[in-house]
Amino acid sequence: MARIPTGALLFLLFLAVTGLASGGRNLPGDFLRLPSEALKFFRGGASDASDEDSVGTRWAVLIAGSNGYWNYRHQADICHAYQLLRKNGLKDENIIVFMYDDIAFNPENPRPGVIINHPKGSDVYHGVPKDYTGEDVNVNNFFAALLGNKSALTGGSGKVVDSGPNDHIFIYYSDHGGPGVLGMPTYPYMYADDLNEVLKKKHAAGSYKSLVFYLEACESGSIFEGLLPEGLNIYTTTASNAYESSWGTYCPGDYPSPPPEYDTCLGDLYSVAWLEDSDNHNLKTETLRQQYELVKKRTLSDDYGYGSHVMQYGDLMLNKNALFSYLGTDPANENNTFVEKNSLRRPATKVTNQRDADLVHFWEKFRKAPEGSHGKIVAQKKFVEAMSHRVHIDNSVKLIGKLLFGIEKGPEVLDAIRPAGQPLVDDWDCLKNMVRSFEARCGSLSQYGMKHMRSFANLCNAGISKEKMAEASAQACVSVPPGPWSSLHKGFTA
Ligand SMILES: *[C@@H]1O[C@H](CO)[C@@H](O)[C@H](O)[C@H]1NC(C)=O
Ligand SMILES: *[C@@H]1O[C@H](CO)[C@@H](O)[C@H](O)[C@H]1NC(C)=O
Repeated sequence: MARIPTGALLFLLFLAVTGLASGGRNLPGDFLRLPSEALKFFRGGASDASDEDSVGTRWAVLIAGSNGYWNYRHQADICHAYQLLRKNGLKDENIIVFMYDDIAFNPENPRPGVIINHPKGSDVYHGVPKDYTGEDVNVNNFFAALLGNKSALTGGSGKVVDSGPNDHIFIYYSDHGGPGVLGMPTYPYMYADDLNEVLKKKHAAGSYKSLVFYLEACESGSIFEGLLPEGLNIYTTTASNAYESSWGTYCPGDYPSPPPEYDTCLGDLYSVAWLEDSDNHNLKTETLRQQYELVKKRTLSDDYGYGSHVMQYGDLMLNKNALFSYLGTDPANENNTFVEKNSLRRPATKVTNQRDADLVHFWEKFRKAPEGSHGKIVAQKKFVEAMSHRVHIDNSVKLIGKLLFGIEKGPEVLDAIRPAGQPLVDDWDCLKNMVRSFEARCGSLSQYGMKHMRSFANLCNAGISKEKMAEASAQACVSVPPGPWSSLHKGFTA
């Protein structure tokens, strides 16, 4: 970029990437307080939760896949989940936390040592175990911990899911993603084929009774769509279907918004929906299915033109189980019986696309910095770098499509969506090779670039070879914009 754009131009760029709807809707914000026995009068209710739990241990793996203050919300979600599980009776020895841990004491954090997950929320950071932090938050350690394979770990506390055949396992992941891929602060990213293989391995080892996986990321449906078979005793819900974004919430400029001193989103829409629901109910009587329906409603909010479709995959009949089997329950909620009509919290009237939350952060920094200050220049530089990276990645992918398939057909091939029930790609090694070919010439995809994973998958599905891709990438990218986003200093994302 030859000339740094002025504040006015920045603002136009900003508006171009965040078209946010707003409105108002009144729904009861409260839930009925009834003895749990009363549930029987409302619906069939959960399978006998206490029997289900009479043997076995509850295990949980909580993982935030991002770092950076502008991604505050993912680690906030994870810390909130930890507090919930502890309050509900799980033990530290059975909760394994993966988080980069650069938020609580980040110089940008207005409340040092404190993380909140709601505008009026209290601290969720205290007591969170530092099992895997910093560079130890990586795919290898996550898989090793889940499989209970201590010898495969590199660094970290050494805590693993040492589970037996009667145990219940809960996994919760929150971060950015793209078709077939989930982000990780330390590269490479986590690919859907590898994750599903690990789940199959865990099942083959006979080391759980059932496993529940809650997944927040953009295009998170693509992680299981056509990939997770039935019969593994695994039930999963995802924040979005295979081809849409998921959403951040409690963001600057949203309603409700964070306290004014926060320049970042505090939570994610699907995540706070299940967490806030779990905080308030007797989980002995609420089933996975009831929570799924509720979270689906709150996450969609289609009256406002935002939101995503929460999906479920795997062994769906597991959803008749009580949440208690996986999440325990808080004795203080024993009379807070779930009654559907009364459980939908007032939905947020404005939320932020997961992929634009970093821009909102950089924009807020820019907007608040005093005119003419050094901080203003730094904030402007960061915003411009993030925007140039986006433009560069988008244009390069488009151009590669045109070079390989022609001007007319290029976009059509890149944007094609396979029918529901089919995986994103058949040859996952090919997909990873495509990503490396691209990055070698065009720079790192980084967080934002994950959105193009479907285009790379479609190159594989169309039979494009590694060599042809390398050639097209070399032609498309004569130079890479400077700045941290495009840099390969963290290695390839695949
Ligand atoms: C555990 O990990 C090590 C190192 O990656 C591997 O050699 C071994 O086969 C794994 N063990 C099991 C039981 O999967
Ligand atoms: C739930 O209701 C029962 C019966 O009214 C009461 O004895 C008990 O203390 C209540 N529990 C809580 C946590 O409020």
